[in-house]
Amino acid sequence: MIRKYTFGTPLPTDAVVLSLPAETGPVPFFTLSRDGDRVVLTRPLQPEDCLFGLGESVRGINKRGFLYRSWNNDIFNHTESTDSLYSSHTFLIFFGPDTLFGVFLDDPGTVTWDLGYTRSDTAVITSENGQLDLYILEEDSLTELARSFRRLTGRSYLPPRWAFGYIQSRWGYASEAEVRTVAAEHRKRGIPLDAVCLDIDYMEDFKNFTWRKDAFPDLTRFSADMKQDHIRLVPIIDAGIKREKGYAPYDSGKAGGYFCKKEDGSDFSAAVWPGDCCFPDFFREDARRWFGDLYQPLLASGVEGFWNDMNEPSLFYTEDCVAAAFRRVEELRSGNVDYEAMWGLKDVFNGIANNPEDYRSFYHEVNGTPVRHDRVHNLYGAFMTRATADAFRRFDPDRRFLLFSRASFIGAHRNGGIWQGDNFSWWSHLKMALQMLPNLNLCGFLYSGCDLGGFGCNVTEDLLARFLQLGVFTPLMRNHSALHTREQEIYRFSTWESMRDTLRVRYALLPFLYSEFMKAALSGGMYFRPLAFDYPSDPRAVRTEDQIMLGEGCMIAPVLEQNAVGRYVYLPEDMLMVRFRSPEDYDLVPLPKGDHRIDCSLREFPLFLKKGHPLLLCPGGESTETLDDHTFTALCLTDRAVTYDLYRDNGFDPDPVLAEHLTPVSVPAPAAGTSPVPGVAISALVL
Ligand code: NOJ
Repeated sequence: MIRKYTFGTPLPTDAVVLSLPAETGPVPFFTLSRDGDRVVLTRPLQPEDCLFGLGESVRGINKRGFLYRSWNNDIFNHTESTDSLYSSHTFLIFFGPDTLFGVFLDDPGTVTWDLGYTRSDTAVITSENGQLDLYILEEDSLTELARSFRRLTGRSYLPPRWAFGYIQSRWGYASEAEVRTVAAEHRKRGIPLDAVCLDIDYMEDFKNFTWRKDAFPDLTRFSADMKQDHIRLVPIIDAGIKREKGYAPYDSGKAGGYFCKKEDGSDFSAAVWPGDCCFPDFFREDARRWFGDLYQPLLASGVEGFWNDMNEPSLFYTEDCVAAAFRRVEELRSGNVDYEAMWGLKDVFNGIANNPEDYRSFYHEVNGTPVRHDRVHNLYGAFMTRATADAFRRFDPDRRFLLFSRASFIGAHRNGGIWQGDNFSWWSHLKMALQMLPNLNLCGFLYSGCDLGGFGCNVTEDLLARFLQLGVFTPLMRNHSALHTREQEIYRFSTWESMRDTLRVRYALLPFLYSEFMKAALSGGMYFRPLAFDYPSDPRAVRTEDQIMLGEGCMIAPVLEQNAVGRYVYLPEDMLMVRFRSPEDYDLVPLPKGDHRIDCSLREFPLFLKKGHPLLLCPGGESTETLDDHTFTALCLTDRAVTYDLYRDNGFDPDPVLAEHLTPVSVPAPAAGTSPVPGVAISALVL
């Protein structure tokens, strides 16, 4: 059951696809109060209550115990005390022995979530705007709550199948020759690869929709050559359009009046990579169409995927903000300067980027009315994604395209995936990536993953290996790193062969993982889940923070610590451990419910299977297009014959019907005395 409550006159956010009448009675589960414009929802927390949701946010799977702020933020150097990240996903489930409901604030402005921070026994959710649709969801289980939220907000984005392949990326690939070399190094060594990202280096002076003719002379030919080798190019597009007369996107944007305006009607501008930029008003349908059409030449040159960046929007500085900082310097020059004044000055300069004043200084046009940006801030990236996805549908309605964005809001999950923003090559960010994944899924973002290896600072070989072992299971599997950091392609490292074998496991599992993903996406389910969803009455499982469920019957428990050669794993039921070294080399160990110490040297990683749930391994391949998805080895802990419904399609159908793509795969019971591992069925299958 979903109930809707409306406060004030909310603006259209495109988050919801179900139209419901607003209720007039009191909001259940919360005490409602007003504080000026703010709407404040307060609820006591019982000692055992857990909170799941908030998608992209720091800290644990269970969000209880911290204060989070929904405000899309370009925050490269985030730590566990950072309250907002690049995206805002304002859905939260309250779960406990006597508690089960979800709350969604369809509010694109600032929302704060004091989840047992000020008082450990109280949750306080505050909408700063006070103009919102509030949804309360009630179902009988966590899983049904997630499905109900998907019914409310619509089907998750479906990427093309090739987007489940390995993607190599780096800020700094400066020429076609360099990209070709990177691709060739992968192919030469048998490291699977499906795509290479082009970062801003491919553009002329970092201007969207241009490319450097000196370094990338013929994009059509380049893209065609790469595709011959089953490798796609995935260029980046930023939100800002450089303010420069004679640059076609600026001229057409200016002529159409498509840029965000200041109060005096002039175009708002701020510096990003290309320098002074104007910002498309993605809240206008005509501006979205104009911006989307700008992708056409790149699409026509053979590109089938993009990543949209800097769309919080990130503002490096505005002239006004810089001028105010210099004024402060002048003030201090003439007076006595103590340490507080100097530290304050540092804050003034540190606060130039993404300054709240700047976000209050420009406007969008919503149904002909100006709306100040900060009131709808969290929608900017989502509406950029919408512009791009709509353009793809116009360009070729019969295909799925790859699209992932940095900023997002609920609703954007129908149009694209997201990556988890700029992380660091830190062990703590590996753990944070794992913990974020189930909550992203809960909010609808199934196609997701982090920058494997870490984006900022220098990766170490062991950290990259462990990141890749998590990446084997994330739908978006991309190695990405920042300019000037240590080169992070697998082949740069002495243990590249074992990392290659990790990737080969991904490709051997790919038809199975794709099947699990598509079944989840098409049925409104989750690809990754907290353990609580499968074992709600097992307190150990409910509180598990470093293991997550995958698909119908799997659990992953990656090694997350430096120098560790294993870890403790909690099994909520009897399971089969598959400890991989390569697709051909793995251990099968049936384990009883309970705690286990699992040895995992740097080249090993485990996957756990519930009883009766088979895992399918294909022979693998160097790209998704060359995979054999007819020949499988099925592994299953079972004492009887079982059937698995394998989802297969052409990899690009935009609107597949689940039931039409399922092939029942029968795994016979293990014949007594024939299986090398008692109780485990191992069967060769040809479909
Ligand atoms: C910020 C993005 O998050 C990062 O992935 C990208 O490499 C840089 N911008 C440069 O485009």
